[in-house]
Amino acid sequence: MKRDWWKEAVVYQIYPRSFKDSNGDGIGDIPGIIEKLDYIKELGVDIIWLSPVYRSPNVDNGYDISDYKDIMEEFGTMEDMDELIYQMHKKGLKLMMDIVINHTSDEHEWFKRSCRGEEPYTDYYIWKKGKNGGPPNNWGSYFGGSAWEYCESRDAYYLHMYAKKQPDLNWENPKVREEVKKMMIWWLEKGVDGFRLDVINLIAKDQRFPDGEKKPGAPFGNMIPYTHNVPKVHKFLKELNRDVFSKYPIVTVGETLETTAEDGKKYAGFNEHELNMIFTFEHMNVDNGENSKWSDERFRLTKLKEIMNRWQTELQGIAWNSLYWNNHDQPRVVSRFGNDRDFWSRSAKMLGTCLHMMQGTPYIYQGEEIGMTNCSFENIQQYEDVESVTAFRQHTELMGEDPNYMMRCIRKKSRDNARTVMQWDAGPFGGFGTNGVWFALNPNYKQINVGSQVEDKDSILNYYKKLIQLRKKYPIIVYGDYESLFADSEKNFCYIRKYEREELLILCSFSESLQEISVPVRYQGRRGKILITNMTGETNMNMDQCQLSERTVLEPYEAKVILYEYL
Ligand code: GLC
Ligand code: CA
Repeated sequence: MKRDWWKEAVVYQIYPRSFKDSNGDGIGDIPGIIEKLDYIKELGVDIIWLSPVYRSPNVDNGYDISDYKDIMEEFGTMEDMDELIYQMHKKGLKLMMDIVINHTSDEHEWFKRSCRGEEPYTDYYIWKKGKNGGPPNNWGSYFGGSAWEYCESRDAYYLHMYAKKQPDLNWENPKVREEVKKMMIWWLEKGVDGFRLDVINLIAKDQRFPDGEKKPGAPFGNMIPYTHNVPKVHKFLKELNRDVFSKYPIVTVGETLETTAEDGKKYAGFNEHELNMIFTFEHMNVDNGENSKWSDERFRLTKLKEIMNRWQTELQGIAWNSLYWNNHDQPRVVSRFGNDRDFWSRSAKMLGTCLHMMQGTPYIYQGEEIGMTNCSFENIQQYEDVESVTAFRQHTELMGEDPNYMMRCIRKKSRDNARTVMQWDAGPFGGFGTNGVWFALNPNYKQINVGSQVEDKDSILNYYKKLIQLRKKYPIIVYGDYESLFADSEKNFCYIRKYEREELLILCSFSESLQEISVPVRYQGRRGKILITNMTGETNMNMDQCQLSERTVLEPYEAKVILYEYL
């Protein structure tokens, strides 16, 4: 396989609002990030993915951009941004900007002018006449309600897949595409090293705009078949690649909802010239309810494995995977797939191991490296996220669901689980700032924080550092082929990697009890070395010898990675 720097890299995601507040207004900011660059560098990652910092009225925490070439006031100034880029490059860190080009804020100049019917902006967004005194079709938006909003000055409706303050851009209009390209080039000329493209597989819409299928009890029709992965999206991405991405030595990752591995090969195929990789949601949907993400059920391991094994094997040699458990939209993985009480540290390390030993580029979300957990609140008023708040209303008021049940779902799945502030130390406000926090600090910050983990050689933080170092040292971790083991087991997640004259055996237990597993014949009695395990008190690079017999026992949430060399 062709070697590429972005295949060998590890990415760290910063959600700026919750990362570090430098001026005591309770909101994380760019100077705060600059303060913490040494910490990030120490971790060993190569790239920072920065969630949006552009000017925004903050209906969706920056994913509603009102000016692509300006910085949100609370976060700082363009000078701060230039300083961040400068400081990062000085330290050898690359910057991946989060860019939202499926929609803008309704406060963006383009939209305001489009509303007023000013040329050339009239067709910058998706405008349709109403039907029978209502919206043009029955599509529902992601953040509740119809996907269409009426605008009096045009006597027409505009489309918004997300909040009504997030109107969708009209990608069919070549002027829109040119504006977007110009804006991205402007950032690349500033020196940014790549983009994370927000909901990028939604940019092409089925131009017939048909009604969506309506499930019994659902207030709106399903817009997904007409708005996600519409074939023309590939034409648009190839054009962006030709005119923008291919002109710079950058990395691109697309956020793509509702994608199969088949789609993955198209978006991230080595010969497709679209994106370097995508974020699939399939493995994030394992604990969804029947018609939405809202459910209070725990995931099944066989389902999770089936999905991850499929993406690993189907993309192999054809396209590149991203690897993630967490981001600003997902609950904390140690609470979701691990055990954040009895096996907090061990299960956090196991989950890190299970993910980082796969083929792909790993992403770490702020706080994951110290095992930050979900944070639950009593009632919906305490939640901040537009998705949780609108979902609660829609499910209880329109769909008649039990509010207590809905609250349980929200505690488990709310995006706010990821958005409590970073736990830097055990001091006031967890070291996030000096004067309060914009949303919430998880009360467990006294036990779980960076300060206490830096010195502790057995900490989750130091374990993550070691995982990253291993990737730099062993090409098999980056480039090795993937083979799954024990696909039917509900208790363990095991697999093999193969590269040149080496093999890697990865054993991870997802169980709270001892698990006996049978060792594949070719490793029985063979001498290997343990590259990493969450069971010993050792986090240095000492190579423990290891020789497995026919059967071996895994402790609860044990993880072990064994290297076999066939010299
Ligand atoms: C993506 C972002 C999410 C945002 C949505 C709409 O899914 O990750 O935070 O709400 O797009 O922009
Ligand atoms: Ca601040």
